Amino acid sequence: MLSTIKNIKQINLLTSNARRYGRTTLLRFLSYGVEIKEKEDCKINNVTVIGGGVMGAGIAQAAAQSDFNVTVVADDEYSQKCLVNVSRSLDIIAKKKFPDEPKGARKFRDSVFSKISTVQDLKRACTDADLIIEAIVEDLGVKQKMFKEIDQIAPQHTVFTSNTSSLSVQEIAQATSMNRQERFAGLHFFNPVWGMPLVEVIRTGNTDPKTYNKLVQFAIDLGKTPVTCPDTTGFIVNRLLFPYLMEALRFFERGHASIADIDNAMKQGAGVPMGPFELMDVIGLDVVKTVIDGWHDKEPENTLFAPSELLNNLVLEGKLGRKIGIGFYKYKHTMY
Ligand code: 3HC
Repeated sequence: MLSTIKNIKQINLLTSNARRYGRTTLLRFLSYGVEIKEKEDCKINNVTVIGGGVMGAGIAQAAAQSDFNVTVVADDEYSQKCLVNVSRSLDIIAKKKFPDEPKGARKFRDSVFSKISTVQDLKRACTDADLIIEAIVEDLGVKQKMFKEIDQIAPQHTVFTSNTSSLSVQEIAQATSMNRQERFAGLHFFNPVWGMPLVEVIRTGNTDPKTYNKLVQFAIDLGKTPVTCPDTTGFIVNRLLFPYLMEALRFFERGHASIADIDNAMKQGAGVPMGPFELMDVIGLDVVKTVIDGWHDKEPENTLFAPSELLNNLVLEGKLGRKIGIGFYKYKHTMY
């Protein structure tokens, strides 16, 4: 059959697909009468991360460190920020890995860094992606619009995931075709990605088991611990963590203890690595507010999700936490 193909480009495509995709499940009959193997069960090589913020940069770095080819989609400003964040973090890791070998450290750092490219053009970033991880603003409409657009562009086999903290993965996925919804799931990373071992893998009612398994394996390939989550509010971690953070805010607002005492008490009495206010500074006060506001809108009678005036004021003042250098505390360096 192959001999009937005149188009040299097509031969190249078939050859490169045959190299890339180990197992085949489907035969497709092209209009010009050539059977090609459908790349249904392809391996993940190319990862596209949409969004160059704190989470996007962390995910891109983790994937590059595990030898995936990574493309980050971001505008100029966020591309720069993303590369600076990754570079800073790789410097720390390289120094730890090669304490007495500056050459080895540089080689490690450069080789990981070279796996990451940044682009502004969403289309370009998706045409060759095996896995897309969205890490943009926590807004259902914005996410749906973006996924609808790339559903038309990305190859059929591409797995779509959202790093949403608080939205329903099923609602986001609804913007895509039914076929894509089988290859759509949540992949929720934690901040800072370099320091947090967990990845929540969220299945919707439509997620194909093969897609789910592929994502579990991907998380393992990143050196992370995957945990299966239902597509319910906040999945596991945020559903338990955010009411605790909001309760810490209310405790302080009632004047029961100082921020420093609450943080110290929780660290030394409950064994958590950071107190709730330190942690909100890491997460980003804007992110905490967006999550809790969204849940409050959905369940206004649920007192666990009641808004906090203090949090709202700090966000209004632009005190967003460590990424800005000021939140509940002041920091010398912007981090995470
Ligand atoms: N990249 C890589 N490594 C870094 C680094 C960086 N940017 N910055 C610091 N490190 C290394 C340090 O070199 C140090 O290494 P060493 O132990 O070998 O010397 C190590 O990381 C620890 O650094 P620090 O001493 O500065 O910090 P800590 O010991 O306090 O650990 C932490 C930092 C891992 C962030 C820890 O405090 C922690 O686990 N905090 C809790 C964070 C958390 O709960 N995150 C989840 C938030 S919820 C979320 O993200 C969900 C979302 O949807 C909202």
